[in-house]
Order: sequence, then C-alpha cells, then structure tokens
Amino acid sequence: MCRPFFVCAAVLAACFGQLVPKMSGLSHNYRPIIGVLAQENLEVDKCVHARGSSYIAASYVKYIEGAGGRVVPIRINQNTEEYVNIFNSINGLLLPGGDVDLQTSGFSRAAKIFYNLAIKANDASDYFPIWGTCQGLQQLTVLTSSKNLLTLTNTTAVALPLTFVPGAENSRLFKSFPKDLLQSLAVENITSNFHSWSLSMQNYSRNANLRRFYKVLTTNSDGRIDFISTMEAYRYPFYAVQWHPEKTPFEWIDKPGMVHTASAIRASFYTSSFFISEARKSQHQFLSQAEEEKALIYNHTVVFCGLDNIFMQNYYFD
Ligand SMILES: *[C@@H]1O[C@H](CO)[C@@H](O)[C@H](O)[C@H]1NC(C)=O
Ligand SMILES: *[C@@H]1O[C@H](CO)[C@@H](O)[C@H](O)[C@H]1NC(C)=O
Ligand SMILES: *[C@@H]1O[C@H](CO)[C@@H](O)[C@H](O)[C@H]1NC(C)=O
Ligand SMILES: *[C@@H]1O[C@H](CO)[C@@H](O)[C@H](O)[C@H]1NC(C)=O
Repeated sequence: MCRPFFVCAAVLAACFGQLVPKMSGLSHNYRPIIGVLAQENLEVDKCVHARGSSYIAASYVKYIEGAGGRVVPIRINQNTEEYVNIFNSINGLLLPGGDVDLQTSGFSRAAKIFYNLAIKANDASDYFPIWGTCQGLQQLTVLTSSKNLLTLTNTTAVALPLTFVPGAENSRLFKSFPKDLLQSLAVENITSNFHSWSLSMQNYSRNANLRRFYKVLTTNSDGRIDFISTMEAYRYPFYAVQWHPEKTPFEWIDKPGMVHTASAIRASFYTSSFFISEARKSQHQFLSQAEEEKALIYNHTVVFCGLDNIFMQNYYFD
C-alpha cells in the first residue's frame, strides 16, 4: 500500500495521465461564462462612491473578459435554489480576493454551496473549474479542510518571485506557460502579494485533507513562514493563487507590491487564459438567451473609486 495519498496520486498520474475528469468527447464551448462571487462590502469608508452592501472589484471582471470569457455576478445571500440555477448555467467560478470572514460571511456560504456543487458535478464527469485568488485560495483551503488553518504573514504589499516545487512546470496550470515566462516568474519580483493571512507549508503538510486534495506548485516566504502561493487540486479542475494576477494589468494604486512590467502582465494573461480554457470544457448553459442576457454583468454600472483605491472600480449590489 502506498500510504501518503499524494504519492499514490503522483504514481497514478504518471500511469494514467491527469486525474481530473476528462471531457466526454464533447466539443469545446467557445462562449464560456464565469460566475464571479460578490462579497460583503466592508470597504464603504474607502470608496466614497460605494453604493451597495456587497461588491465585485472590476479588475476580476476585466481579467476574465481579457481572456475570452464573460462574467455573471453571483450575489451573496441568495437561496440555494437560485445558486443551483446559476451553477447549471455557468462554466466556471472565480472566488476573488477581499477581506471577509471565511466561515461566517455570505461569501463563504455561497462559496461552500458552489464548491459542493462543483465536486458533485466533476465526480459525475460534468467538468466545472474553480479559480481562487488570494482570499479565494484561502476560502478553498477552509472548504477542503473544514477548518481555518491560516496564519499571519508579513505579505501585505510586496512583489515576490515564485519558488517552484520540482515538477511544477508539468502541472496542468503551468505546462501551458512559455518557458521564458516560467523563468521570469521564478526570478523576477512580479507576483503581487496583498494578504495578511497565508496557508503555511507546515499546516498544509499536517492536514491530510489538504495534502490529499491539493498539489502545491509554488511557495513563498515572508522571511519567517513558508506559505503556498500556487496550487491545483489533484482530482478536480480547481486552481488557486495567493498572489494577484488581476492587479498587474487592471489596478493602478501606487504602492509597493504593484508591478506593471511586461512579464507581469504576460503572467497575468497566461493564468486567465488557462482558466478560460478549462471553462471551455464545461457545457453548462442558460436556459435561454434572454436569461443569459439578464444575468451577465454588462447591464451593471461600474463605480470609479479613484486611482488611489485598492480597487479602482467596483460593481455594487444591494
Ligand atoms: C496552523 O493553524 C493554526 C490554526 O488551527 C494557527 O493558529 C497556526 O498559526 C498555524 N500555524 C502555522 C505555522 O501555519
Ligand atoms: C515586512 O516586510 C517588509 C518587506 O516587504 C519589511 O520591510 C518589514 O520590515 C517587514 N516587517 C516585519 C515586522 O518583519
Ligand atoms: C525580490 O524578492 C525577494 C524575496 O524573495 C527579495 O529578497 C528581493 O529583495 C526582492 N527584490 C526586489 C528588487 O524587490
Ligand atoms: C438593464 O437593466 C434595466 C434596469 O434594471 C432594465 O430595465 C433593462 O431591461 C436591462 N437591459 C437589458 C438589455 O437586459
């Protein structure tokens, strides 16, 4: 018997190729729609033009649109039936960064419902990818372990190079990246970190649920604690980054950790492009074009919060 699950998983992967469910011979969906989850608006004081109890930062929407996806906002505090309807209509879920409680917020409640639906769907060969960024990664770890195992790190405004785990270049996520871009990610400080909490390698390694579920692709350190900066699930098309690929092309606050170099922008695009290529494997669709039109974000007005806001433009919801 091979005891540590990840060793078994690695061996199986070597023998049978990737473990995530394969598309069952269906053609690609070239009109993918991504649900982006809203969250409680705790930033009211920072955006004077804020109007609504929840929000989505526009950079996440642009990030998806720039890679050939369209966005449906998913509001918090909807009933389960509403979430099931949305789930069956969209081709992927993006859990964005932010600052809400990962166990008690409306964001965490909705994330849990979608996570469970995605597990069930993928188990039944209904391909459904999830992408978590920053808080999104943290939320995924809480959902998978049913615990908050995060720890404080000194990473609130710093650009870092990624430390690749051996073999990460052959991961599903990174194998589509050009070699010179992987090199840039490894040596240039081009990943924007804006987080107080991280999942340490120590807590990851000590928790069997996390260890069996996620493959660590890159790590970083704040000088004291090694933490996970990029991961993908072994058996599900779930991906997560602790850093912010959407900030480099779409946020312009002038502070440490913000980078706009050509390689940083390129790295951003390869992450979104990969996620959308996963979403193209999903066959979910809205029941009608009218339903789709009603749900898409285009009919929502973006609010400008100023160049100096951490989120330059936001969508607000009541
Ligand atoms: C591990 O998780 C606990 C919460 O269960 C947390 O208090 C602790 O700081 C974490 N330790 C490390 C090293 O991540
Ligand atoms: C946190 O990290 C920054 C560099 O990113 C450093 O200047 C600062 O001294 C660190 N703070 C602590 C408390 O370690
Ligand atoms: C890049 O990040 C590393 C930490 O991994 C740090 O030691 C180095 O000073 C940073 N370089 C620049 C130019 O910020
Ligand atoms: C956009 O929203 C307004 C106000 O809710 C609504 O009256 C209008 O029909 C919507 N337009 C489309 C194209 O869905």
